[in-house]
Amino acid sequence: MKVRKAVIPAAGLGTRMLPITKSMPKEMLPIVDRPVIHYVVEEAIKAGIEDILIITGKGKRAIEDYFDRSFELEYYLRERGKLGELKQVEEIGEMVDIYYVRQKKPLGLGDAILHAEKHVNGEPLAVLLGDDIIMSEKPGIKQLIEVAERKDAPVVGVEEVPWKFVSRYGIVEGEPVSRNLYRIRDMVEKPSPSEAPSNIAIIGRYVLPPEIFEFLKRTPPGKGGEIQLTDALRELLKEQDMFAKVVSGRRYDVGSHVGFIRANLEISLSREDLREEVINLMERVIREVQNE
Ligand code: UTP
Repeated sequence: MKVRKAVIPAAGLGTRMLPITKSMPKEMLPIVDRPVIHYVVEEAIKAGIEDILIITGKGKRAIEDYFDRSFELEYYLRERGKLGELKQVEEIGEMVDIYYVRQKKPLGLGDAILHAEKHVNGEPLAVLLGDDIIMSEKPGIKQLIEVAERKDAPVVGVEEVPWKFVSRYGIVEGEPVSRNLYRIRDMVEKPSPSEAPSNIAIIGRYVLPPEIFEFLKRTPPGKGGEIQLTDALRELLKEQDMFAKVVSGRRYDVGSHVGFIRANLEISLSREDLREEVINLMERVIREVQNE
């Protein structure tokens, strides 16, 4: 299979990050000076994706505005000779072809992906959740695409998580086939630690075949009354081999408090222009807190 298209579901309500998500999509939360979804789109582009579909919903206009050209702002920056800032703003407007479709009701990740069927038009698709950032030398989704193209099979991105957190994830039962790669035997959505077959958790990256849409249509609402992608994948697994790839890099679930704070700290530390000042600041804050 050849993967050219990516789908970024970004229509969830983000209840874990309330109240900010009352009026701001969690995908637009700032990580240093750009929104979460900027990093996600950048990852897809670096992986060679040519076409991106973002699934948006109510109150998500800010996402479209962000990736749109902003002629007024560009004019203002040019007039004032702020050419560095101008270049940044222009680049965002020209990143890649981005399309949008609206999920009218947040009926779950599976339902969000179903909205991509027409656009994807019979091709395989890469899925990147809009609230999961992966920072790594080789883009996270690229690591999956390589396996999917080599094996001609669907691939989910996974990571080992502490057992006490398995109930937050879809969990995979797999047999190792090579370093960092499993053939999936079964999977279960948000099990309790005693039910979980392993601590290998599905993270927000997938490469899926177009048949996934037929399976999603047949999937009844599952946990939380939502149409769960994991349930559809489980059915697909009965007909096709499927692999789980341990994604290397650092991952931030920005839809959770600590994930969001950690992303800001670590991503600022990875930036040359901020690193030193942020280290000094962190040292000072820790000293002051310890002395209180
Ligand atoms: P999450 O379960 O993390 O998103 O879904 P959520 O429902 O917004 O979060 P909480 O739990 O209420 O805080 C993972 C991804 O799937 C998208 C979300 O936007 C997120 O990127 N999603 C989820 C949809 O697009 N539609 C949905 O109906 C649900």
